[in-house]
Amino acid sequence: MQKFTDELINWYEKNKRDLPFRHTNDPYAIWISEIMLQQTTVTAVIPYYYRFLSTYPTVKDLANASLDDVYKLWEGLGYYRRAKNLHLAAIKIVDEFEGIFPRDHTDILSLPGIGPYTASAISSFAYHEEYAAIDGNALRVLSRMLGLHDNIAQAKTIKRITDYANKMIVGKDSASFNQGLMDLSNAYCRPKNPDCSNCPLVTYCQAYKHHEEKVLPIHIKK
Ligand code: ADE
Repeated sequence: MQKFTDELINWYEKNKRDLPFRHTNDPYAIWISEIMLQQTTVTAVIPYYYRFLSTYPTVKDLANASLDDVYKLWEGLGYYRRAKNLHLAAIKIVDEFEGIFPRDHTDILSLPGIGPYTASAISSFAYHEEYAAIDGNALRVLSRMLGLHDNIAQAKTIKRITDYANKMIVGKDSASFNQGLMDLSNAYCRPKNPDCSNCPLVTYCQAYKHHEEKVLPIHIKK
């Protein structure tokens, strides 16, 4: 899997999508983008991302805003709980971290609305720490690559895949690995009709080898 990691990173470096939130190391901006991207497509997020950051350029600006104004800026994105948690987290950062977005991974995880995926994305993209950011797309790509038949709806499978991915990135650029998985899943390793014949990493794919690319991942809800 060492070679898979290296080739994914190489492919990403040459082919990455040019996205506004990939041009910053500011954990605050990355956090805003990651929360927006949770239930919303990249294309829909971009204008909201610019508007949000020009209205609230820093954590302190967001903490000082009224929740109603934050909701207004969020209009059209849906899932308003995300906006409420952003506001709550900004207040917590001002109260407990002197208004500076925390660097420590456990501190990041303690913020409202931030789960393991988002905390890992921030630690990786802003600080280049070795955290694999495992969302549904990453679970799909890695299940296929590894030929894994475990149910990705189960916490123990998510843990297993996350632990494995964390080992894959030791000594590597986690930000390129994580975003490489995102771009690969977007361009080729799609949920339905994956484009295996053009996939740059098909030689590593156990699912493809065993004609299981449409069978994997296994996703059975309880
Ligand atoms: N979805 C969540 N984070 C992303 C990123 N950095 N690039 C593309 N899609 C994403």
